[in-house]
Amino acid sequence: MGKTLVSYQTLYGSTKEAASLISEVLENDYNLEVDLHRFEEKKEHPDPSKYENIIIGSCIFHGKWGNNAETFLKEDFQGKKIAIFICAGFAGEKKLYKQAYKTFLKEVVDKYPHIKPISMKAFGGRVPKSKLPHIWFLRASKKLPSFRSDNRNLEDVKNWAVELGKKFTTNG
Ligand SMILES: Cc1cc2nc3c(=O)[nH]c(=O)nc-3n(C[C@H](O)[C@H](O)[C@H](O)COP(=O)(O)O)c2cc1C
Repeated sequence: MGKTLVSYQTLYGSTKEAASLISEVLENDYNLEVDLHRFEEKKEHPDPSKYENIIIGSCIFHGKWGNNAETFLKEDFQGKKIAIFICAGFAGEKKLYKQAYKTFLKEVVDKYPHIKPISMKAFGGRVPKSKLPHIWFLRASKKLPSFRSDNRNLEDVKNWAVELGKKFTTNG
């Protein structure tokens, strides 16, 4: 079995937390060899040709992916199993989930038609206390009064990792 890459971009850490949990499950429960990679300014992208399975995750700010994570989507992933996730405040609220999945995940990945992900998932996120009240959060609370500054769900992340582990370790 070839190696697995879990790559992610984060600002406040929730996407890192999800990426770390995913890699733990893949290593511990599926015996996969995993490299974790954080996208950062001026740091080179990992080389996709080294991996059999590639997971790409991004935080969402003002409706956008992290620049470096999105640039990575342009790479050649032919013959790889690709899975994509985002962490976004809207995705953690039931009422906003569908819209978040469509605008932050489906529409972004559709811009890169060479990518055929085996799975895509939108997770909730967390606006750190030090950033509250932030104008973005105040706007979100107007849209949905019950909007939570922390709507992460690590159980969801774990379940997705298990699903991926199965897909990565079986043919097809
Ligand atoms: C300034 C700001 C802008 C944000 N914009 C959005 C947004 O457009 N849509 C959304 O769903 N969440 C938005 N969020 C919430 C973030 O997606 C959430 O905090 C996420 O967990 C951040 O990921 P990170 O912890 O990996 O950096 C925003 C948060 C802040 C502080």
